[in-house]
Amino acid sequence: MIERQEIRTLLQDPPVGEEVTVMGWVRAWRGNRFMVLNDGSGPETLQVVVNGDTFDEETVRAIGFHACVGVTGTLAESQGSGQAVEVIAERIEIFGANDLSQYPLQPKKQSMEFLRDNGQFRMRTSTFSSVFRVRHGIAYAVNKYFHDRGYYYLHTPIITGNDAEGAGEMFRVSVFDPEQPPRNEEGAIDYRQDFFGKATNLTVSGQLQAEIGALALGKVYTFGPTFRAENSNTSRHLAEFWMIEPEIAFADIENDMDLAEDFVKYLINYCLEHYRGDLEFLDARIKDAEKNMKAADRRPMGLIEMLEFVVQNDFARVTYTEALDILMRSKTYKKGKFEFPLEWGTDLQAEHERYLVEKHFEKPVIVRDYPKDIKAFYMRQNDDGKTVAAMDVLFPYIGEVIGGSQREEREDKLRQRMQEMGIHAEELDWYLQLRTFGGCPHAGFGLGFERIVQFITGMGNIRDVIPFPRAPRLAQF
Ligand code: 4AD
Ligand code: MG
Repeated sequence: MIERQEIRTLLQDPPVGEEVTVMGWVRAWRGNRFMVLNDGSGPETLQVVVNGDTFDEETVRAIGFHACVGVTGTLAESQGSGQAVEVIAERIEIFGANDLSQYPLQPKKQSMEFLRDNGQFRMRTSTFSSVFRVRHGIAYAVNKYFHDRGYYYLHTPIITGNDAEGAGEMFRVSVFDPEQPPRNEEGAIDYRQDFFGKATNLTVSGQLQAEIGALALGKVYTFGPTFRAENSNTSRHLAEFWMIEPEIAFADIENDMDLAEDFVKYLINYCLEHYRGDLEFLDARIKDAEKNMKAADRRPMGLIEMLEFVVQNDFARVTYTEALDILMRSKTYKKGKFEFPLEWGTDLQAEHERYLVEKHFEKPVIVRDYPKDIKAFYMRQNDDGKTVAAMDVLFPYIGEVIGGSQREEREDKLRQRMQEMGIHAEELDWYLQLRTFGGCPHAGFGLGFERIVQFITGMGNIRDVIPFPRAPRLAQF
């Protein structure tokens, strides 16, 4: 049996003078006497004193950057500055030596792209280990938030025949030989002969199925992988991401917005309270990266300052029409500095969203009541006949983190909208039946998990907050 103490627990109440055994990976060497060890339990490192009298040079040389070792020795108050305690090594077991001349990573600053290409090792760096600890913390907080408030976690299918968002950006799931798929009389691919007897794809949203849950259990949420084959090579899009979708019965768009704001603030607060050390590290990392930047390119606030600001202030709330008005009255618009056109009826682009959040309101913004033609078929039609009860939550740097709506619960209105948008009623018969039989006003939203992880960790690229990113032409591991 292997016995060891975790560095995180050890440092909470250091048993000075006692013998300890720690195991981990070498983060750095200070000279050839001080080894800095991290075991992943937290951002904390432990300094190990390797005395030349006890260990020969050859042993020390084998323990390069990111080598894996077990150290037994006495925990002592540290002589040097920078740490309170250190281990005076008596025995060192080398689990995995590391020949630095062969190792892809080197003990120096490496670019995010380079680390992404070497994803098998990137979690050993301080930045990525902090990011993935915080990611875990947010996932735990999601489940805790809903569980504590009486929501039920519903697992919606990953393989489905529906296109919930109607955007058609789906990955096909089929067992057909792509070279020779069976064809019907008209010469089209005959999905009736496929595994499920119909065309299926990976889910783009669990919402439609979550509505089934909400109209029976009252309050449910999904939290699962979501797939979109949109060819967006941006720092905010993944082809495989995780989405959290609460769905609640007896709720309208106001309830929905209140829930969204309370929920994201809870997640941020949870991290501020429980992952302080990791956030402090990530905060310092950004400040360091911004040192040589022009003032205009730097973020207006530090990471922790920004997170605290977001939880302490009410989100701004405007309608789409008001937002458009603000944008069209802006200097940026008048000087022709927006790349995309602005006209009532067109969707807001990232540049518009960021203007509203970063320049105009200088805090998160909820935009509601979008034109119906740019939104999905299931959103509840407003009385003006032009807009739907949709809402998007927009954040600094990221733009949209949440998209949600009150659902159309009136069967006739829903049917009519589906017809207008060319969605076949037969395919969504079950969805319509939820209106025919025992329906009620209900609402929900989807939070892009990686987008909130990105915001909380301050990482610039969404590919760096998911362990194994999937994006156009990227499916390593
Ligand atoms: O706005 P979206 O498309 O909404 C829905 O799918 C609804 N069915 C949700 C609901 O009402 N239950 O997506 C929701 C969120 C977005 O706000 C964004 O944060 C995230 O999912 N998202 C993505 N995140 C990463 N990569 C992508 N390609 C994403 N597409 C959407
Ligand atoms: Mg959206």
